[in-house]
Amino acid sequence: MTILDGKKISNQIKDEITAEVDKMRERGEKVPHLAAVLVGNDGASLTYVGSKVKSCERVGFESTLVKLPNTTSELELLNKIEELNNDEDIDGFIVQLPLPDQIDEQKVLMAVDPDKDVDGFHPMNFGKMALDMSTFIPATPFGILELLERYGVETKGKHTVVIGRSHIVGRPMSILMGRKGFPGNSTVTLTHSHTKNITQITSQADIIITALGSPNFLKAEMVKDDAVIIDVGITRVPDEDRPKGYRITGDVDFENVSKKASFITPVPGGVGPMTIAMLLKNTLLARERHRNKTEL
Ligand code: GUN
Repeated sequence: MTILDGKKISNQIKDEITAEVDKMRERGEKVPHLAAVLVGNDGASLTYVGSKVKSCERVGFESTLVKLPNTTSELELLNKIEELNNDEDIDGFIVQLPLPDQIDEQKVLMAVDPDKDVDGFHPMNFGKMALDMSTFIPATPFGILELLERYGVETKGKHTVVIGRSHIVGRPMSILMGRKGFPGNSTVTLTHSHTKNITQITSQADIIITALGSPNFLKAEMVKDDAVIIDVGITRVPDEDRPKGYRITGDVDFENVSKKASFITPVPGGVGPMTIAMLLKNTLLARERHRNKTEL
């Protein structure tokens, strides 16, 4: 069994990005600038956005954190997005999800300039992804592809089962694993809350990608020998013994499933750090596109 070490690989990617940024600086060019918009005080979102901003510093990017109160109206957020769209210094930005109930998420995602949409959530970029066109791929699916590629995990002709159909992970993952190329060329089954006999389906899978947010959902008896297991779950479970009062738990019963798996991602230290590394990679790409556009 091999651990797919997202922490290690994400550090390698960050080193590669740092080297690119150093070269930009030596050439006297502007370095990439990422902005993150956070609405409200959700603890997990605060942590994620904090990590994203900190990672920008680590690779030499500029970063801006826009913190808005929980009571922000949809119009106020749309105005802020317009400002970021028009800010020549910002190469890419994200709006951290989820948003408070008074704000329509779809309206917000549609308002982001597709050329600055480093999350890859705008319908134009999502459509391009589905059509194999060059675009921003959502960071978590992009990170999973990168892990599979760097560990040389075979995906061609394999049966990949994706659990969960979220717009951020499950749905794009199901599209990407079926695309032509590597990683891809899989036969994909997308399962969700209305799927019947899920064990019958998962036990036939060569690769399982689970993005449910349901701690220890995937048990050893649901998995065949030598399966590849990708755990996207990151749920905070109360734990008095931890300094923060909680621990992060994945969707996979790691202790038992790892005994059967050929490759498996740990939680934490698997998919999570890869998401941030790929957001940085998308921001680097956004900077390059922005420069080419403005210099032409
Ligand atoms: N919330 C959970 N994951 C993500 C992500 O990848 N991007 C944004 N913007 N919000 C999220």
